[in-house]
This record gives sequence, C-alpha cells and structure tokens, in this order.
Amino acid sequence: MKPIKVGLLGIGTVGGGTFDVLKRNQEEIRRRAGRGIEIVMVADLNTARATEMTGGQCEVVSDANTVVNHPDIDIVVELIGGYGIAKDLVMKAIANGKHVVTANKALLAIHGTEIFRAAQEKGVMVAFEAAVAGGIPIIKALREGLSANRIQWVAGIINGTTNFILSEMREKGLDFGTVLKEAQALGYAEADPTFDIEGIDAAHKATLMSAIAFGIPVQFDRAYVEGITKLNAVDIRYAEQLGYRIKLLGIARRTDAGIELRVHPTLIPAKRLIANVEGAMNAVLVQGDAVGATLYYGKGAGAEPTASAVIADLVDIARLATADPNHRVPYLAFQPDAMADIPVLPMAEITSSYYLRIRVADQLGVLADITRILADASISIDAMLQKEPGEGESDTDVILLTHRCQEKQVDAAIARIEAMTTVSGKINRIRMESLA
Ligand code: HSE
Repeated sequence: MKPIKVGLLGIGTVGGGTFDVLKRNQEEIRRRAGRGIEIVMVADLNTARATEMTGGQCEVVSDANTVVNHPDIDIVVELIGGYGIAKDLVMKAIANGKHVVTANKALLAIHGTEIFRAAQEKGVMVAFEAAVAGGIPIIKALREGLSANRIQWVAGIINGTTNFILSEMREKGLDFGTVLKEAQALGYAEADPTFDIEGIDAAHKATLMSAIAFGIPVQFDRAYVEGITKLNAVDIRYAEQLGYRIKLLGIARRTDAGIELRVHPTLIPAKRLIANVEGAMNAVLVQGDAVGATLYYGKGAGAEPTASAVIADLVDIARLATADPNHRVPYLAFQPDAMADIPVLPMAEITSSYYLRIRVADQLGVLADITRILADASISIDAMLQKEPGEGESDTDVILLTHRCQEKQVDAAIARIEAMTTVSGKINRIRMESLA
C-alpha cells in the first residue's frame, strides 16, 4: 500500500519531536500501520529553522494554506495552537477532505462541536490524543479501552506546570510567587503563564474528557475554572497535617442531577497514588462501573511524549483511512446521533467536601457559634485543627474539614460565619475529594 502523506503545520517542540520519532521508528510504525507514514511538507514561518530541523527531507513552506490545499496531503497535523489561524486552517483542511490530527485542546474545547460536525459531513477523522495529558493515551483509554463501562467520574492532574509549582510549594514551604519565578527560570512555566496557573489549560482538557466520558458535547463555557494563584503555603501545610495533599484537579463527574465539570485546587488523601504524582508529571484517575478505578500516569508535555500521542493518531488514521466513515471510532466515543443532553451543573449544585480555614478571635464560644452555623446548614464536620495563637497574637486559625454537602450550603454557611464579629477576614475554602 502507498505511504500515507502528512503535512505538518508548525514545527516547534512537538513538531520536531514528531518528525524525529517518525523517522527513528519508521520501520516499527510501518509494521503497525500497515503502510508507511511520511511527512512530505512542513509549514512554518521560520523556514530556515524548519529546513534545518527536517534536514531537507521534505518540502518547507511559510504559508500553511499551501499544506491544507495541497492535493497530495492526506493528513494535516495542526501544531500551531490557539483558536484563530489554527481554526481557520483546520476547517479548510476538513473542507478539502483531509484528516486532521491536532494537539490543540483550546481549539477543540471551544470549537469542537463545529469542527466535529464539519468532519462528519466530509467523512474525515479528527484525532486529538495529544491534546489531553500529552503522552498518556487517556483519550484512547476513555474512548475505546473503557467502552464497556458507564463512566462515573474522571479526575486528573492534567497540567504539569501547576503540579510542579504545587510540589515545590509543599516540599520547600515556599509561596506561590517565589515558585512561579523558579518554574519560569527552569522552563516549566511560560513567560505568560496565565493559561496554566489560572486553570484554563486544565479546563480545556477536562472539557474534552467530559465529552468522551459521558457522550455530551464539548462545553468549555460551562466549566468552573479556578487556578492556583490564590493558594497559600499555609493551607498546603495544614492540609498535610490533616493527611491531605493539594492538587489542581480537573474533575468530570456524572450525578443524578447532571454533570459536574470543574477545575480547582483540591485536597486529596495523601495515601492515594494520584496524590503522590509530583513535579511536572500528569495522571488521570477514571472510575468505571465495571472496571472500578484505573489510573494513567506519564509525561503530559514535551517533544517526544507529545509526539508519541500525535503519531499514535497518525497510525490510527493510516489503518482506518479506507474504512467506511460510519464504521470508524466516533470522535467523542459515542455515535454523533447518540449524544446525551445531560446538563452541566452550575457550581452551586455540585457536591463536595470542604476545607475551611477561619481566622478567629481566641475567645469563649467562638467555635460553638461556628459549629452551630454549620449544623443549621446541615453540614457535618469530619475533622478539625485548631492552632494556638502565635506569640503576642489574639487571633488564631481554625481548620474544619466537612463531610460532603452541596456547594450552596457551604456558600450560605460561609457568609454567616464571615459576618461574625469574632471572625476576621475571608474564610479560605478549598474543595476536597476522597477519590475513593
Ligand atoms: N502547559 C501544559 C502543562 C502542557 O503545563 O501541562 C501543554 O498542555
């Protein structure tokens, strides 16, 4: 069979890794795919660097439109990122009847519905293993390996930058700002780290996982997104004293009322395997009704780990390109005409346990007043930690862990506690999941 021909849009870190791994393992990959996979054209604005990276082994152009319009190209690999030019090029590639492989989580989390619909109409594949957790084959696992299951929830450490920062804050007792600077110096965080530290990158990935896990449309606009910028070193320390670690989790959970889709710092028991995922590594825990809990761990970024995912998609497409489009694996695991219309819940309706740090005056009856407010709101206390006031201080920290309740119950209780004259400042609330 003739080799399948690939055009690369962008040859930065991931593009370079894809080129190198495909070349290094070409024989092994051909034996798997049943035909060769050849990168025949690369588009990059920096044509000199692209020519150097490809060693003159394929045509290099500066205009990506040349690739998406080229009649010889079967698959377009989009590695430009963002949802401006990248969306335009992906839509043109689809309109031209080309299959698409992309690592672009932002593009699919926001415009996935439109892109998948266009691809369905043209009978082409859109594959995106590299978009979630880099080299970990989590899309494949959710979409195919676990297809017997009713998936109950997915919880993942799906942003390496923030996991690195949280690990350093815990291990070295440093505050967020100091560690962020260190992460930038080491190249773990971008010069503009907003997408990572504000939880947006993780929310793009959680959105994609929610769609595949539950057969719902991608709905990034319904995701709750809270990053790690307001996390305090003291909360990491108190959490540890109570037997927990704080991780930025992307959570997608099915409940009777609807889907919870949320990204936020989360206390998880230190004894869970996923709590021990440190540094820039990623891990995703999936709970299915038949299989129970399964855990996927690996590198969520980097040239060759991400290339591993991109090439796996190329192999899938090489195998299935000649198959009847209606008999390929659906983009979002469920057949397009069998997607569910389950609502994504507003945060007030989700259930969780909570860590509450309350700054109180060290006076008779303060704790009794707080526990009364919680009891009135039907919130049950699971554990408590009270520190002695520091030298010369009259206020101290009380830390309460609650049992599961609805977020709106906690919101109401927090408002009442903050109104107490014996409580100063805002209560620091962090959600908590047992992941049992
Ligand atoms: N910036 C991401 C991370 C990798 O830190 O995990 C690409 O999604």
